[in-house]
Amino acid sequence: MSDNSAAPVGQPPHFHPLVGAWIVTRHADAVTVLGNPDLFSSSAAFAGSFQQLGCPADIAERLEAIVPAGTPQLVASDRPQHGLLRPLATRLFTTARIEAYRPIVRDLAQGLADDLAGPGPVDLHARFAIPFSARAVLRVLGVEADRAPAVEALAASASLLFFVQLDEAAKRRSAEALLALEEEMAVLLDARTAAPRDDLASALARANASESEPLKRAQLIQLLLDMAFAGTDPVATVLSSFMLRLLATGGAWRRAAATPETIGSVVEEAVRLASGLRGIARRAVRDTEVGGTPIEAGATVLVMPGPVNRDEGVFPDPGNVCPGRAGARTHIGFGYGIHYCVGAPLGRLDLELALTALLERFPDMRLWPSQPVAFARAPLLTQVGRLLVDPGPRRGG
Ligand code: HEM
Repeated sequence: MSDNSAAPVGQPPHFHPLVGAWIVTRHADAVTVLGNPDLFSSSAAFAGSFQQLGCPADIAERLEAIVPAGTPQLVASDRPQHGLLRPLATRLFTTARIEAYRPIVRDLAQGLADDLAGPGPVDLHARFAIPFSARAVLRVLGVEADRAPAVEALAASASLLFFVQLDEAAKRRSAEALLALEEEMAVLLDARTAAPRDDLASALARANASESEPLKRAQLIQLLLDMAFAGTDPVATVLSSFMLRLLATGGAWRRAAATPETIGSVVEEAVRLASGLRGIARRAVRDTEVGGTPIEAGATVLVMPGPVNRDEGVFPDPGNVCPGRAGARTHIGFGYGIHYCVGAPLGRLDLELALTALLERFPDMRLWPSQPVAFARAPLLTQVGRLLVDPGPRRGG
């Protein structure tokens, strides 16, 4: 299944020789690992320099002229570095600010849903989940509506560099896209620093200027890039995997359409059951133990959201969507501890508005019969690669 449900649940950490890592599947063990950042380093998530990523040297040089090698990435940094970056990022995602983006994100969701024409098969992943999630984060960051599709294409091409084995020509194309994206974020930051608007790039520039020790321009550009990437694939993955689950489970889609008031708690279950993240990686800083299992210094530990979020001791009836369940937010779909997803308020808003736009318009949507469900190949995410549906007749919306 799309969401790691085949991984073992309820076992102590075990070493997986093929993956070369300790696999953590119990909720309590996940909390031990993710809640002890000084013992379990996030440097395991570091993607490496542009050259290590496979960028041709001439492009790597131009990328590093904007964001020099060694500029910290929030998700891959440890304390004290993480503590220097995170407060600024946290200041961006206040509930009030994210609520203010509701109209932009709702318009996007409704516009894309309106374009889903039946009765033939419609690929919901390519036609809705991917463009919606990419454009939502880009628009919120401050990219103009007419630029968003082009920038979305750059981000999609650039992300291949991180996720897929490419031949030399394809590496060059992806590296050029990454450079164009980095330049786009640099121009955005400079423009909003000079003339702020109501977007996240402006909020970032303004918040940084008021810090006692402001971050450098390169660090801010890196943060914008991190958000552009981190805000796209995870949202699209949850959306498509969860849609697959609802449409494949008799009556679940119709029940959700009939009870729009539960959408907030449905979203929480979506992130619990369909995060798609294969593993949250950490590296043991010294010899230690997790749930009674010794882990040696330097070992990689992979916390698996799929089985952890189905730990029966924490989530009774774990495999079913139970909106409003007790302790609904104790899942680790958004992580846990100091690296808990800083963009979670936007992720929740995206999912709420995307599901609502689809439920309102297409309450009779069905999976296209006997389709081979395709999963995209990416080391970090198990992502639906295609999701064919019959949208059914379109209602008012
Ligand atoms: C449903 C959608 C999303 C899911 C499932 C998700 C999941 C996660 C997870 C599991 C982590 C923790 C990684 C770790 O501990 O190593 C994380 C961190 C992060 N996420 Fe998300 N995310 C989502 C949406 C977003 C959005 C919309 C943004 C930004 C616009 C975003 C930005 C980030 C950033 C910057 C971090 C790093 C935080 C830190 O290291 O302090 N995410 N996300």
